[in-house]
Amino acid sequence: MELPEAALTLLRANRRTTPAGHTYTVPSPSTYPYQWLWDSCFHAIVLAKLEPEAAISELRSLLSRQMPDGMVPHMIFWQPKLTHPYHLLWQEKTGVSGMTQPPMVAYAALEIYRQTKETAFLKELFPSMLAYYRYLIDKRDPHDHHLISIINPDESGEDNSPRFDVALRVKSSISFFGHMYRRHRLVAANRTCAFDPLVCMHERFWVKDVPFNAILIKNLECLAEIAALLEEHEAKEFATTHKELISFTMREFLMAEGVFWSAVGLEHGHLKVATWAHFAPLFAGLYTPEEAKELIRVHFNDPETFRSAFGIRTVSKKEPSYRSAGFWRGPVWFAPHWFIHKGLMDYGFFEEARWLRETSTGLVEKHGFREYFDPESGKAYGAHNFTWGTLVLDMLEP
Ligand code: GLC
Repeated sequence: MELPEAALTLLRANRRTTPAGHTYTVPSPSTYPYQWLWDSCFHAIVLAKLEPEAAISELRSLLSRQMPDGMVPHMIFWQPKLTHPYHLLWQEKTGVSGMTQPPMVAYAALEIYRQTKETAFLKELFPSMLAYYRYLIDKRDPHDHHLISIINPDESGEDNSPRFDVALRVKSSISFFGHMYRRHRLVAANRTCAFDPLVCMHERFWVKDVPFNAILIKNLECLAEIAALLEEHEAKEFATTHKELISFTMREFLMAEGVFWSAVGLEHGHLKVATWAHFAPLFAGLYTPEEAKELIRVHFNDPETFRSAFGIRTVSKKEPSYRSAGFWRGPVWFAPHWFIHKGLMDYGFFEEARWLRETSTGLVEKHGFREYFDPESGKAYGAHNFTWGTLVLDMLEP
């Protein structure tokens, strides 16, 4: 079967229907049988070209469980399954999680528009989208520092990345389940103060994460474009202003030694763990062309740190926390590849973009749709029938 056909077959097989009749896609029927925020956006981006109605429905389903304060939850437990009891620990009484995930909604919506040129669905979803980005700006940056904070590593989408070890107060040698237990304790603690950032987050976990903020910047740009299409002038100004403020502040406070570092605390103390977060700002155009060139030369192309035969390591091989099979502690994943690929294309690094596209496609062709890969051996790990491999369809040829 050709790749586009195999991808569509998988996305259809993983498709489920909500009680209200919207369809969404489970990332993997056996391992991840719920709806996740950034996964749904990835599905919508791929489906935009294949089945735009399903892409729109995916976003409708996602936004249908938005909280009254505007937060879009990172998980919706449409069909709780006891086969995955540890996932259920994230569930609130409302049937959703109390936290969010990288805010890719506006990007996905704009991508659907680009394919369909339809504005009716944009108009319908716009108030929810705007409320979500307003939530992030208002609630996750209560002191107007112009950097958005996450309240749990899971909000980054990179659940056990060593980028968060210091902020989470765990040793870099911690086990997978030890780490998960620590994150659950954090959820339980945040539950006691109803996840209200201003009230309780400062004492626990409050990280200004590089990929999350870079993704937000790109999405504010998309939101501004959507607002312009809909002639929502105030919203356009809101999105543009905050996009610029966060971009400026990221460069001002999160940059050192030519790359970006996530930060913790009021002093923006850098969390000095080298991860693919160095490359995420390419997606938001935060590096100057000269800086980007150095980034590619010094970091992207270095086999001793990031570049492996099977793609870009999520953590530098030189980090003591690096584990080639350790979930988000080193392996190759499709989502980071997709973000980096977009950035490389925007900056005109076509050779590197082509290589990333080819390694990604090669992994799917060899292993089918698996979750993550050992950068040293190329071995496939984790979930089966996992949807992120379908993103290679959106990694276009230079
Ligand atoms: C894992 C990933 C997360 C993803 C979820 C569902 O928890 O770390 O990013 O959203 O699976 O695929």
